Amino acid sequence: MTDGAVIVEDLWRRAMSGERAEVDRALRAELGARRGIPTRLRQAMGHSLFGGGKRLRPILVLWTWDALGARDSRGGRRRGAVSRDVTVKVGVAVEMIHTYSLIHDDLPAMDDDVLRRGRPTCHVAFDEATAVLAGDGLQALAFDVLAECGPRAAEMVKLAAAAAGPAGMVGGQQLDLDAEGAPVDAAAVRKIHAGKTAAMIGLSMALGGVCRGVDEDTVTELGAAGQWLGLAFQGADDVLDVTASSTTLGKTPGKDAACGKATWVRVEGLEAAQRRTRRLGRKGQRALMELLPSGPVRDRLFGLADYMWQRDR
Ligand code: IPE
Ligand code: IPE
Ligand code: MG
Ligand code: MG
Ligand code: MG
Repeated sequence: MTDGAVIVEDLWRRAMSGERAEVDRALRAELGARRGIPTRLRQAMGHSLFGGGKRLRPILVLWTWDALGARDSRGGRRRGAVSRDVTVKVGVAVEMIHTYSLIHDDLPAMDDDVLRRGRPTCHVAFDEATAVLAGDGLQALAFDVLAECGPRAAEMVKLAAAAAGPAGMVGGQQLDLDAEGAPVDAAAVRKIHAGKTAAMIGLSMALGGVCRGVDEDTVTELGAAGQWLGLAFQGADDVLDVTASSTTLGKTPGKDAACGKATWVRVEGLEAAQRRTRRLGRKGQRALMELLPSGPVRDRLFGLADYMWQRDR
């Protein structure tokens, strides 16, 4: 790596930890502001939200917003653009949906996991029924938060419902369960990963575009770039399940093989799965380069995209 590359890497890594702190503050403020939540339920939601999450999805929302710039090609402010503070709130909504999906993913009826974000999973720390309700509560709260996010809130609610719903993340989770122990090929794994993971990552980039007031076609293209990166992200997740330790991961490694999960590692072996993950990540990065104006803010997002498929946790 050249010295220049080291400096760029250092910059985006430091920027990422600053954003994480901002997202955490905003998450605490949103949850703290809601009245009438029973104490045990609030504690369970907080337990899962404030473990060691990477906050990748909210940061993608924010850095897409940053990279798109405030003005259109004629120098005018775009329709329905919102401030960075409102964009943080949109990221908070996405993180709430994501966290709900993790709580349910870990339940004994699904992946049956005891460790998440370096802590006991929600159903272990509380109980199964409370974990189901904590997930339900976070999902409803997310849509409440999103509905407050500016003139294009209804469009964002629709996009989020599609990405999180039965033809998106939830549908992917169903396919993931159906495929446990069943014969699958690489295309079937891709369909699972597109639903369970890439849909929410595509959503994050699409919402960053809506917050900047870009047109619908650009929102769709941003979502498609995010889909490629999301496939690479899940490819890396499956690789890490084989190669990483529980201390680094903050979750239990080796679970995929133990459950007979459909992964590219299982279908084609570790090295081919690593190559595939790299190809998908590069494809997503090329899409980013085509969509976004050049400059340091795009470079930072590019660095984050690199991290998505080359991460260690
Ligand atoms: C874990 O997501 C579930 C997948 C979709 C692979 P992350 O790896 O983003 O988990 P956190 O949010 O950092 O805990
Ligand atoms: C989880 O995929 C996807 C969602 C939570 C929607 P995994 O089951 O592979 O995620 P981990 O490995 O438990 O984080
Ligand atoms: Mg799972
Ligand atoms: Mg799991
Ligand atoms: Mg996994």
